[in-house]
Amino acid sequence: MSFAEYRELINDGDTAIVFLGHDSMFPITVQHGSQTQTKYGVIRHSTDLVGKKFGSKVTCSKGGWVYILHPTPELWTINLPHRTQILYSTDISIITMMLELKPGSVVCESGTGSGSLSHAIIRSVAPTGHLYTVEFHQQRAEKAMEEFRQHKVDHLVTVKNQDVCKNGFGVSHVADAVFLDIPSPWEAISHAKEALKHEGGRICSFSPCIEQVQRTCLALEEHGFTEVSTLEILLRVYDVRTVSLSVPDLGRPADNQTSSDVNEKSKQSPAPQQGTALFKSGVSPRETVGHTGYLTFATKSLF
Ligand SMILES: C[S@@+](CC[C@H](N)C(=O)[O-])C[C@H]1O[C@@H](n2cnc3c(N)ncnc32)[C@H](O)[C@@H]1O
Repeated sequence: MSFAEYRELINDGDTAIVFLGHDSMFPITVQHGSQTQTKYGVIRHSTDLVGKKFGSKVTCSKGGWVYILHPTPELWTINLPHRTQILYSTDISIITMMLELKPGSVVCESGTGSGSLSHAIIRSVAPTGHLYTVEFHQQRAEKAMEEFRQHKVDHLVTVKNQDVCKNGFGVSHVADAVFLDIPSPWEAISHAKEALKHEGGRICSFSPCIEQVQRTCLALEEHGFTEVSTLEILLRVYDVRTVSLSVPDLGRPADNQTSSDVNEKSKQSPAPQQGTALFKSGVSPRETVGHTGYLTFATKSLF
């Protein structure tokens, strides 16, 4: 298993996702001799997991069952241990597209936080690209390094424990793209410019407040970035439900039909439905996700 590459079989030491339902899953580290408790009973790693295929249905000790899923950045984002606020897949998807990330891209990021975005970047740039991620909180930086090792992507990422606003990204003119998720991104714009390749590249800054956006846009302009644009992306999810509606009463058959006509018709087709009709519909769930943050994109160009 690796977060950048699919493997068929579950190995000792792998991260796996125990799937009980769409709203109920959690990550585990597979270890010979270990056990995991679920509401359906115990999963024994040596006999139930090691050597089995990812995606297998595993019967737990009480007879209930779960699926064991291969980890992906999307599943990790909704299952990871939070050390900070994180970015979710809706924002991440537009970030990876608008930063034009692809295999081989070199990316600078700050802060690393809980590594939610980092995992998505790493998968996009693998197997030949690299992520330089900067986090000034020492424990968070160390924990992120440990997770990247555990997820077998540590060769694709360098974690630096420093203040990006004071010391920058620790690299010069190597990056195709820079991403900022820090409280004062405007203080890191000069360092972002330094990190981006001479021939240019893309930048994105994520901020919850419009005042942060205003200061960032001014700093981007001051440092010669072009194509500055800010957007917000909102997700609406639909649940599929069976809905029942009452059938309207359209009255008795027309009077000018003879009784033999009516009798003839009723032989051909069943009597009109009374009561309710069932059909499938997409319904918006109880609560929709609100504002996460503004995304400001810009380009460093050669000219
Ligand atoms: C909101 S979190 C980032 C979450 C991350 N994007 C994710 O998806 O998991 C912001 C992180 O930036 C770090 N940070 C804030 N200011 C910083 C700075 N000047 N230099 C480096 N890291 C910084 C914080 O310690 C925190 O861990």
